[in-house]
Amino acid sequence: MSDEIQIEDLPGVGPATAEKLREAGYTTLLAIAVESPKNLSDLADIGDAVAVKVIAAAKKAADLGNFETGDIVMERRQNIGKLTTMSKAFDSLMGGGIETQAITEMFGEFGSGKTQIAHQCAVSVQLPVEEGGLDGDVIIIDTENTFRPERITQMAEALDLDPTKVLKRIHVARAFNSHHQMLLADKAKETAEDLNVRLLIVDSLTSHFRAEYIGRGALADRQQKLNKHMHDLLRFGDLNNAAIIVTNQVSSKPDAFFGDPTRPIGGHIVGHTATFRLYLRKSKGGKRIARLIDSPNLPEGEAVVTIDVKGVRD
Ligand code: GTP
Ligand code: MG
Repeated sequence: MSDEIQIEDLPGVGPATAEKLREAGYTTLLAIAVESPKNLSDLADIGDAVAVKVIAAAKKAADLGNFETGDIVMERRQNIGKLTTMSKAFDSLMGGGIETQAITEMFGEFGSGKTQIAHQCAVSVQLPVEEGGLDGDVIIIDTENTFRPERITQMAEALDLDPTKVLKRIHVARAFNSHHQMLLADKAKETAEDLNVRLLIVDSLTSHFRAEYIGRGALADRQQKLNKHMHDLLRFGDLNNAAIIVTNQVSSKPDAFFGDPTRPIGGHIVGHTATFRLYLRKSKGGKRIARLIDSPNLPEGEAVVTIDVKGVRD
């Protein structure tokens, strides 16, 4: 990294602008190069003309990547980690576990288990690789104030882990609105620089967006913001070889976008950017059914899991 071009080396970027860019979360040339002028000027609080110039310079200087042959892609995919959910059935539905370098979206109605499964993964990611973990830290962006350390303690104890140590590897921030949520996704990149973060959870991905962007007129704006957010998350996953789990409620009221109340919020944008989509529903005897509905390389299928005091199990 050290002999590479830095942000302040870009023509026309002084220390003050560089500082603003860093504060807004643009810590690499690539992050600037792939941004839109409007977002860059809004988020970094720089003029439109400066934003256009900075992006053009970053595009020249950044390593934008290149076309690569399939065997190279294959090699990188061999580094993909798989994270256990503590249910064998769930893991095999996912082809061995929740993949890194990908976004896994869990959607379902209230109480369907999205937050519980997210808590479980925040614990299991800390297990050694031989036990299905990734020996990593986790970042949680909590938008509904549903993170419960007490629940983590129960799940850790069920696995004979020291709860205090487990809690120390979980880095939680509450997001107060959708803009804050997007800034926290940027901030996560910084946090991950000094840690081995192998899982990023956004629970819930859509609740703020849904509450803030109301009506047909706001839809295009909402979808554009969600799209940017999803791509930021995906980039985080690639950079850190981390799994990304996002949760999404199905709308109980008809959405302006879909009349169908069983469709997840965020529609096509979320659906197309998520690599794996899981539909969760309640079943008899407190069981939960997870259905894989969209995946590039796995068959559709279902897994039945239980959620109890120990966490998620077969
Ligand atoms: P929303 O965020 O409201 O959309 O729901 P969700 O899908 O996140 O549901 P969540 O994961 O919070 O599911 C909560 C459910 O998990 C409870 O209603 C319980 O039925 C079940 N559960 C089973 N065992 C436990 C347990 O020991 N603790 C808790 N908190 N919940 C449990
Ligand atoms: Mg929840």
